[in-house]
Amino acid sequence: MAVIFPSLFRPAACAAVTVLLTPLMADTPLPYRDSNQTIETRVADLLPRMTLDEKLGQLSQSVICEPRHREEPNPSLVRSGRLGAFILAIDPAVSVEIHNQFQHIAVEESRLGIPLLFGYDAIHGFRTTFPIPLGLASTWDPALVERAQAVSARETRAAGVDWTFAPMSDLARDARWGRVAETFGEDPFLTSQLAAASVRGFQGTDPGAPGHVAATLKHYLGYSAAVGGRDYNLTEITPFALRNLHLPSFHAGVQAGALTVMSSFNANDGIPAVSDRHQLTDILRGDLGFKGFVVSDWEGVIESIAWGYSATPAEAARRSLAAGNDMEMVSTSYRDTLAAEIAAGRIPPAVIDEAVRRVLRVKFALGLFEHPYTPALAADKVFLQPDAVALARETVARSAVLLQNPDVLPLAKTVKHLALIGPLGDDGDEMLGTWPGMGRPQDVVTLAQGLRAKLAPGATLEVVRGCDLLEAGPRTRTLMDGSVVIDPVAEARETPGIAAAVAAANRADVVILALGEPRGWSGENASRAELSLTGRQSELLAAVTATGRPLVIVTFSGRPLVIPTLPVNAAWLHAWHPGVQAGTGLADVLFGDAVPSGRLAITFPRAVGQLPLFYNGYTTGRPDKRDYRDLPSEPLYPFGYGLSYTTFRYGAVEIVPPAQPGQPATARTTVINTGRRPADEVVQLYLRDVACSEGARPEQELRGWQRVHLAPGETRTVSFALDDAALGFFNREGRWLTEPGDFLVWIAPHAHIGEGARYTLTR
Ligand code: NOJ
Repeated sequence: MAVIFPSLFRPAACAAVTVLLTPLMADTPLPYRDSNQTIETRVADLLPRMTLDEKLGQLSQSVICEPRHREEPNPSLVRSGRLGAFILAIDPAVSVEIHNQFQHIAVEESRLGIPLLFGYDAIHGFRTTFPIPLGLASTWDPALVERAQAVSARETRAAGVDWTFAPMSDLARDARWGRVAETFGEDPFLTSQLAAASVRGFQGTDPGAPGHVAATLKHYLGYSAAVGGRDYNLTEITPFALRNLHLPSFHAGVQAGALTVMSSFNANDGIPAVSDRHQLTDILRGDLGFKGFVVSDWEGVIESIAWGYSATPAEAARRSLAAGNDMEMVSTSYRDTLAAEIAAGRIPPAVIDEAVRRVLRVKFALGLFEHPYTPALAADKVFLQPDAVALARETVARSAVLLQNPDVLPLAKTVKHLALIGPLGDDGDEMLGTWPGMGRPQDVVTLAQGLRAKLAPGATLEVVRGCDLLEAGPRTRTLMDGSVVIDPVAEARETPGIAAAVAAANRADVVILALGEPRGWSGENASRAELSLTGRQSELLAAVTATGRPLVIVTFSGRPLVIPTLPVNAAWLHAWHPGVQAGTGLADVLFGDAVPSGRLAITFPRAVGQLPLFYNGYTTGRPDKRDYRDLPSEPLYPFGYGLSYTTFRYGAVEIVPPAQPGQPATARTTVINTGRRPADEVVQLYLRDVACSEGARPEQELRGWQRVHLAPGETRTVSFALDDAALGFFNREGRWLTEPGDFLVWIAPHAHIGEGARYTLTR
């Protein structure tokens, strides 16, 4: 057995030793309890001591979930060693107590004293909720994301959780899919950088050290390619797309040392991911070199019955375990059926042993045998600490993307009377986004509060809701089944909310409209067929626009929105779901204390009918015939797009031959700040492999970016190496190839801009 994760699994990783007194302990600790032994020695000592039931227990995860946590689960399962892990989805006020209560049973009352592992979904913060991952991705700043995830880990671990189900490493492909909110966007390179940064943030250099948690790369594999953006659905991913689009972020996360991977709900080509041996074993362990353990998604193992792939729980369990899915989440088919499957000779005991080894290694790596308990929570010393709050504020400002600005922003500090209109102007809960961790609405600084704090003495802010997020309008009708449809014959009537908003707009020097979609309309099981503003917000927008007052529209959503009636003379700042510091970070941007530098990590379409739409598509054999009869094929805003309060001019791209044979050529250009403010620019490198013998390559692929800070008038030369990493691709078998021939090179502020410079790679 190879020693895995050498840096993590060394004895020194298990710092101070707390001797655990159990009935089994003699004066000399058993090897598996001895932190001076290597992890492999400890695992090798412990495994043969375990009964089959205890082994299956280590492969089973149950849930402690509000409000049922006092009754469930049955502690006797823990006492008998038939349960190895929990999802601890409960309020931090009681989570440490509950954690320790069950951990005491596991450590002191079970035969071998193997500690439990507690997992939870802290995907963009725990109590300090940061912007949703799609917002974090818009910062294009791995170091910032790493710091945010490190804060999340610190708070999470203090609440009794040692394992987070993040980072989501899926690639956004279709904005209808609610879970694009949880992704780092549509590009494999950007996603890879941010997935790796997240793993580093969560795990640090030693996941067993205080303040760190084990990371989970999820959902493996291709979950986001679900047909029609419908959650949990079938995927039909070609080998090329699998290797070049969906795998790289998992590869990067594995290389960053992620301890666990979660298998996904989709079935690719009809095979549920949880039972896909080719993906879970040949690719994940063989090609990617993953050494940790794989956990299923929630009841994912038995869902293969509903898929029509397995006939019984026993078959589902056997096929998933044999495929390489080590732990079962929530459903109990492993625990209930695998002993009989072994007895019947349908699965070799060695397969169980290997899965148990993988789980035990992670428990040792996390130092759980030495530090099974969580110290009493001093919430006021752990949560929402000043450094965390400051970081959250910075990430909000850095993730907001300025999409349109006909000289309305930044607001003058001397503005006398502002109107903030819309259902999202003063709503804390809606700012938290999907999977808000333990973020609380009362911890949120709303946009209203953030703006108020910036007003000059004597200036005023009038806040008017205008309408609700999901309010049915006079043009809608509720059918007998409860669904709401548009009634084309009904008369549009003014309603008091909108009338009050119009009156407030007419009184204001500048109007800020806070619009979007409810946070529950993105995330899991939250796909949408329309990407419009919900409820009566379009009417509100039209009515306020008609006042002619200077207008700033701030949108909040978990995905791109389609707002065909957005006025061209308004500024548009897209803020995602920004988390607890929504109002402070956004007020910084609106008043110009922070200059916007967010760039889209996902394409904004003009219409839902364009979906799926992403920048890295193909030219086809007829590149000039790509439009719809009724709409251009071009997006409204491409991947990588975002404005600043200054302007930048890019020079022509130059290809500089290598200084010495064997070295790569360089592509470079100059970027000038042509405006009046110092600001960051995100300079992006895109490539196209003009002719590829293994199959056509996308029209453009992001292969690098650099953030540069430029003073007004300053010029910077920005260079990128045209090396193997920039020029290559994966073939269908997963081999990285770089072919001699022509490439097009863009160094640009976003995708799809102008002609690329030509570079010829010779060998
Ligand atoms: C189901 C979701 O798909 C997954 O992302 C999450 O981690 C688990 N539930 C656990 O909450």
